[in-house]
Amino acid sequence: MNKLKIAIGCDHGGFLLKQKIIEFLDKNGYEYKDFGSFDEEAVDYPVIAKQVSGAVSNKEFERGILVCGTGLGMSIVANKFKGIRAVCLENKFSAKATREHNDSNVLCLGGRILKDDLALELVDIWLTTEFQGGRHQKRIDMIE
Ligand code: RB5
Repeated sequence: MNKLKIAIGCDHGGFLLKQKIIEFLDKNGYEYKDFGSFDEEAVDYPVIAKQVSGAVSNKEFERGILVCGTGLGMSIVANKFKGIRAVCLENKFSAKATREHNDSNVLCLGGRILKDDLALELVDIWLTTEFQGGRHQKRIDMIE
């Protein structure tokens, strides 16, 4: 069992990709809670983003993953929460760099943009790359 506790959620635009990510989390032994939604019926992404980001902000979970059509709306909401450093990713370089430099704790992805294989690679890189600390910690303290 991997020790990271992950909160995951989506809207209708991210439902199918969220299901793929859950298969990946299961296969790799991650502990997670699925905050929904649970089908492709239209839901308001701020509701789900609030639940997942709130649960990371209050330290119930260490990381959050949010999937909507673009990842953008989810990231806008997530970054309103104290201690949340949410990023919307579309490439592998940034997936690694944002963990090493920004210690990002919520990953937002676009189900209507990303191919499944790339999305799962981004999740894998983002979950397994360590924060480098040092000079980057000082900058994170400045954000807070
Ligand atoms: C829903 O149609 C869409 O707006 C949502 O999934 C997301 O892309 C918002 O940023």
